[in-house]
Amino acid sequence: MNTPAQQTETSAIPVLWCNADAVTSSVMEAVSFVTPVLENFFIRTVAEGVRAQHDAELARRCQEFIHEESNHSVVHKRFNALLLNRLGKQPPGLSMVAALLDGARRRLSISKRLALAAALEHFAAVISKLYISHEPSLEFESAFAKELFDMHAREELAHRCVVFDLWRAQDNGGRFARIAAIAVALFAGALYVSIAVPWILHRKTGKRYFRTGAGLAGFVAKNLKDTLTRTPVAELFSFVRRDFHPVSLIDDSALNRL
Ligand SMILES: [Fe+2]
Ligand SMILES: [Fe+2]
Repeated sequence: MNTPAQQTETSAIPVLWCNADAVTSSVMEAVSFVTPVLENFFIRTVAEGVRAQHDAELARRCQEFIHEESNHSVVHKRFNALLLNRLGKQPPGLSMVAALLDGARRRLSISKRLALAAALEHFAAVISKLYISHEPSLEFESAFAKELFDMHAREELAHRCVVFDLWRAQDNGGRFARIAAIAVALFAGALYVSIAVPWILHRKTGKRYFRTGAGLAGFVAKNLKDTLTRTPVAELFSFVRRDFHPVSLIDDSALNRL
């Protein structure tokens, strides 16, 4: 399929490109920067895991998964390069995520790495579902950004079962492995966001600490009720249930109509 980068002329990205809001734009930029780092881990893990796979259909889905994630990384890197023109450098916290995933790659068995990748893919699917439900109310000042995030959310939901099925084809998916994978993914994700988002916001406000703090406080105050009532906590943690399967996250026929 055509990528957003092929469909849309890319130009400078406005500072407040999402919802005309500095914090929302900073959150989306933090997500975009970490995406190629995570996808590199997914691609390498699935490429290694599929070697021991004799189910031809699952192997075909894995190859398609690798192709899609590679494409996501290419387009996000292109978008990130535009962001870097303004930010000057990548947000702190990114090298920590890369080092953690590199440590996982060198120290953990393929089964444990697949469990971690399945947990992270589950997070990506839950966040994509949340994004799609909010998408009608989001206002983008960049057509490239909108096409990129729309395409990525749809494809994440469509391939949400692949890593999970590959993991379960090789491992019984015990409860401890599920809890450990979700705990590591949550901890590292929260740490990265809490470092990267204020840093990006600080750059957007012209490196003014007061405006950065006031922007964050205002965003929390404005969105606290919505965050408390609409964050899909049960869906996020459903991964630890023994009967969990990502197919239940969304009706595929509804997804195909999007
Ligand atoms: Fe992706
Ligand atoms: Fe994915």
